[in-house]
Amino acid sequence: MSDPITIADFEALAEAKVPPETWCYFAGGAGDEVTLRANVAAFRRWRFRPRMLTNVAEVSTATEVLGIPLALPVLAAPTALQRLLDPEGELATARACAAAGTLMCVSTLTGYRHSEIAAAAPGAPRWQQIYVLADRARTEAALDEAADCGYSAVVLTVDTPYWLWRERDTRVGFRAPDDLPLPYVGNPYAPIAADLSWRDVDWLASRSRRPVIVKGVLTREDTLLAVEHGAAGVIVSNHGGRQLDGVAATLDVLPEVAEAVAGRVPVLVDGGVRRGVDVLKALALGAQAVLVGRPLLYGLAADGEAGVARVLEILREEVWRGLVLLGCRRPDEVTRAHVEPTVPYDSPA
Ligand SMILES: Cc1cc2nc3c(=O)[nH]c(=O)nc-3n(C[C@H](O)[C@H](O)[C@H](O)COP(=O)(O)O)c2cc1C
Repeated sequence: MSDPITIADFEALAEAKVPPETWCYFAGGAGDEVTLRANVAAFRRWRFRPRMLTNVAEVSTATEVLGIPLALPVLAAPTALQRLLDPEGELATARACAAAGTLMCVSTLTGYRHSEIAAAAPGAPRWQQIYVLADRARTEAALDEAADCGYSAVVLTVDTPYWLWRERDTRVGFRAPDDLPLPYVGNPYAPIAADLSWRDVDWLASRSRRPVIVKGVLTREDTLLAVEHGAAGVIVSNHGGRQLDGVAATLDVLPEVAEAVAGRVPVLVDGGVRRGVDVLKALALGAQAVLVGRPLLYGLAADGEAGVARVLEILREEVWRGLVLLGCRRPDEVTRAHVEPTVPYDSPA
């Protein structure tokens, strides 16, 4: 293939390079992968209502989330086991995110320590994703270490009370290698605290002394509970279609969550974002920014740090182009009036 110019190009390159028994873990979803596909398809059900002659001589993709300036409204979602795709793993991702001017959310299942990641890209904004382990002492030690390394918020993933097997992985026989370093869980199957409740959001905020962002809300009911329990932000997420198959595409849930939040805290969304225009549709439907998981993993697998950097550059450039043609000068000028649902007979997607 000539030089990759889209996320889809990077996906093809990555799939050609990564052995099938590893690829299944990164590309796959739960069950029949209905939700995995729905995430991507949902973006096709919205179309733009662009405005003309709005003076787009100066357009910027820059925005902010929780006071953190970002060069583009796209953050790195927490994704596990990055060292399986590139020996530099999270270090490569951290450097590419810092260079692109965006924030990396580091998974509990990182292959490098928070101190190593912080040293790889000093001064860059970072959040710590948390699975509260049954062994809470281990989680508390990880919280302290990330706080010391300048990670400014904790992202509590609430859609994963257990590690559950996925059929693609089982079929191909995927298993995280025993010698893969995972400093914050010890082994990849260390049990999660399945007894977690909303009270633990309050606990986490006081124990970590940092804002807690709740990742994985899919209903207005849980959105209200998250805000009530002091969440500093919510992420509409179905874990990239990897947990309960058959839940809604995240883009379809976003308006419900944004309405429930009513501007009190930032709303972020992830799942199926593959184009700059997808980012703009998410902004129009109430998100302050999006996170991307697999697109960065494709970049990492294809070309290490340079691949992640290129994927972020493609997204930034596509967001810029979309803003210009939509008639918006900044991400926060994109409103609900800039999109409408695609009528069914008009939508081959
Ligand atoms: C291979 C892989 C590993 C993931 N690991 C984690 C994780 O450790 N913690 C977490 O909160 N979410 C994890 N996620 C979910 C992502 O944070 C994010 O919700 C999802 O990837 C977004 O969908 P996208 O891949 O279509 O962008 C993972 C996703 C993938 C694909």
